[in-house]
Amino acid sequence: MKILLLGKNGQVGWELQRALAPLGTVVALDRGGADGLRGDLEDLEGLDRSVRRLAPDVIVNAAAYTAVDKAETEVERAQRINAEAPGVLACAAAAVGALLVHYSTDYVFDGSGDTPWREDAPTAPLSAYGRTKLAGEEAIRAAGCRHLILRTSWVYAARGGNFARTMLRLAAERERLTVISDQHGAPTGAELIADVSAHAIRAERRDHSLGGTYHLAAAGETSWHGYASFVIEQARELGAALKVGEIAPIGTHDYPTAAARPLNSRLDTSRLRERFDIALPDWRDGVARMLREILD
Ligand SMILES: NC(=O)c1ccc[n+]([C@@H]2O[C@H](COP(=O)([O-])OP(=O)(O)OC[C@H]3O[C@@H](n4cnc5c(N)ncnc54)[C@H](OP(=O)(O)O)[C@@H]3O)[C@@H](O)[C@H]2O)c1
Repeated sequence: MKILLLGKNGQVGWELQRALAPLGTVVALDRGGADGLRGDLEDLEGLDRSVRRLAPDVIVNAAAYTAVDKAETEVERAQRINAEAPGVLACAAAAVGALLVHYSTDYVFDGSGDTPWREDAPTAPLSAYGRTKLAGEEAIRAAGCRHLILRTSWVYAARGGNFARTMLRLAAERERLTVISDQHGAPTGAELIADVSAHAIRAERRDHSLGGTYHLAAAGETSWHGYASFVIEQARELGAALKVGEIAPIGTHDYPTAAARPLNSRLDTSRLRERFDIALPDWRDGVARMLREILD
């Protein structure tokens, strides 16, 4: 099996390099490209040419414009990367008969209520980022290629910057932290996303009827405040020297950002679990493992 991986150095892309390796030959690109293949999602023609030339069996697109606040003022660029490029990939995938695996987000929802979102729930993004990601999903569905769109939430990885690392740094510097407590979701590890992606690719190749849109997030739920508290408690158990005494909960309104975030980011993952016969571990398992990796 020949697999084209785009965005190889992102949180999910990095883990996909590992998880996809046992499936076949992985041609992994960052925005710089390699061997005459273009990996820049802003170069739509180059992207189209590269897919047709390589003719992979599977395209995995882990590249995205993920700067949620900046997207409010860089809408065109976010739209090109998150919406137009996936559309180009999908058309090229249809032309060469490839499966396209693409990642989307809980930010396609408006965050109302407290029920976990199912895949067919009405979308209503609150931000430019969410709108561009939704447009990317729609472009893929319209192209008619075989696809797996995996919507995930609150992604972290041991590599690179993430919320847990930021909390650890602040907890070492400050006696008091304030963290948002009215946004709810599940921190989901890039490792888990990559492993489930590899499993889903294998299954879809045996049974094309498994294609479609799925919610992929760790089990359980928390708030950013609950997440931060867990990280700090675990880090202390691992012997980290932290100054912080109080972790004060605050509301979203107390922490204004350029882009609005959904309050309810809970994703109902039952469709994915049932159709692919997998279990998704509790969010604490992966976060604890990541902390051991960066602190031990
Ligand atoms: N992070 C989250 O909390 C979250 C939540 C829900 C869904 N998702 C979705 O999950 C997927 C993976 O996210 P992630 O957390 O792994 O993101 P990430 O760590 O920000 O990685 C994104 C990757 O895309 C690359 N990229 C950006 N613009 C590009 C371009 N024009 N051409 C080629 N590559 C480009 C980046 O490269 P550079 O490093 O060179 O910029 C980076 O390697 C994305 O589709 C994202 O929308 C993420």
